[in-house]
Amino acid sequence: MTSPRVPLAGVIGTSVGHSKSPRLQNYWLKRYGIPGHYVPMDIAPDDLGAALNMLPKLGFVGVNVTIPHKEAVIGMADLVTDRAALMGAANTLIFRKDGKIHADNTDGYGFVENLRSGAPNWKASVGPAAVFGAGGAARAVVASLIEVGVPEVRLSNRTRARAEALRTEFGGKVTVYDWVQAGNMVDGAATVVNTTSLGMVGKSEFRVPLDALTPEMTVTDIVYTPLRTRLLQTAEDRGCVTVDGLGMLLHQAVPGFERWFGQRPEVDDKTRAVLLGA
Ligand code: ATR
Repeated sequence: MTSPRVPLAGVIGTSVGHSKSPRLQNYWLKRYGIPGHYVPMDIAPDDLGAALNMLPKLGFVGVNVTIPHKEAVIGMADLVTDRAALMGAANTLIFRKDGKIHADNTDGYGFVENLRSGAPNWKASVGPAAVFGAGGAARAVVASLIEVGVPEVRLSNRTRARAEALRTEFGGKVTVYDWVQAGNMVDGAATVVNTTSLGMVGKSEFRVPLDALTPEMTVTDIVYTPLRTRLLQTAEDRGCVTVDGLGMLLHQAVPGFERWFGQRPEVDDKTRAVLLGA
């Protein structure tokens, strides 16, 4: 008699040493008494195909995917969810028992869940969203805001062409503002989102003028180091509801854990504390 295999999962990328996912996923495994392991794996682009072929044979039930493999895995998966296809990128792979690889993208889901849990009274339909940035994270944010019913997405990016590209892709609900006038987007917006790396430890400060912030606005930042960014601090001083970016990281991890280990994990203060601990 062979004993049942211990399920394994992990995160694949080329610089995963700094990833917070192992701490989060291993905490949930322990909390729910599941005898599994979650490991960081540095995998070079040339080895990605071989790795995806081998990992299920080694007992892996799935992986999270990070830079630079998020796009490449789409072409290697057997099934791709609509939201991953729309993003052209996946952050979660499920290695099914029948040998098929299922690719999903939970970034937008994580963003919206974080907003909903941090700002319980937030309603998509209330008014326009102002989104700073047009990179990979902005794509997920814009797609999910449109999906949940935001009437208009105002977009501004240092490199205007990237914002224009998102408008072309996501259509008439998106309006593009020039970066030098990015602060104007906030006027009359209901939701304000920073998706740029501005304000992150070690990066330039977020310096867009925020005079138009008013107390009924909900303001969120995907930057979570520091937790209280200048944008969030300014918004809080103005009386806005603020939601920090750590929750997006926590919520985007939920669907993967549930599919791999058969238990829907809870995102609560204990979970946050685990990630914030030294
Ligand atoms: P991610 O996948 O995390 O979104 P990304 O695709 O590199 O990463 O996007 C980073 C975002 O931060 C972009 O919107 C970028 O603007 P550009 O498209 O002009 O590069 C924005 N960003 C980074 N540094 C910036 C800076 N100093 N000033 C303004 N925007 C900046």
